[in-house]
Amino acid sequence: MSIRNVRQSGDEILRKKSKEITEFTPRLKVLISDMKDTMNKLGGVGLAAVQVGVLKRIIICKPNENESEVVLINPEIISKSEETLEDKEGCLSVDGYIGTVIRPKSIVVRAKDENMNDMEFDAEDFFARIICHEVDHLDGILYTDKVVPGTLVNDNEEVDN
Ligand code: NI
Repeated sequence: MSIRNVRQSGDEILRKKSKEITEFTPRLKVLISDMKDTMNKLGGVGLAAVQVGVLKRIIICKPNENESEVVLINPEIISKSEETLEDKEGCLSVDGYIGTVIRPKSIVVRAKDENMNDMEFDAEDFFARIICHEVDHLDGILYTDKVVPGTLVNDNEEVDN
């Protein structure tokens, strides 16, 4: 078990574009395992590799507490519903804040799994939201770029000194 340092907003790496993965290596296996440990330790529902400082197109999502993490390599959103949903989001790289973001209600995702097999699936609601948020990370976009104006608030009960 290995917890990695999560980069925080303001760190330039979060604004860079992550690179496609062409070969699954033992190093990537360790990275994914560490990403899972890190996300679970911090109570997150999604994490992109760039958030732990690795510019590779890998995301993990955990839409349901009782299910294991979904690992997506080179994920692409190939279609989005016109119907949208508005809901609150947070990000492990924007510690302590939440804000409202409008996302498609449903999407179609194409990605590779950990065996580099192609997959395509539909995602809806909260799962779709997480995937959209994480895929944005791979292109250097943070949810704070898209937040509905005036909705970004500090979620901490205690005020930082
Ligand atoms: Ni995030």
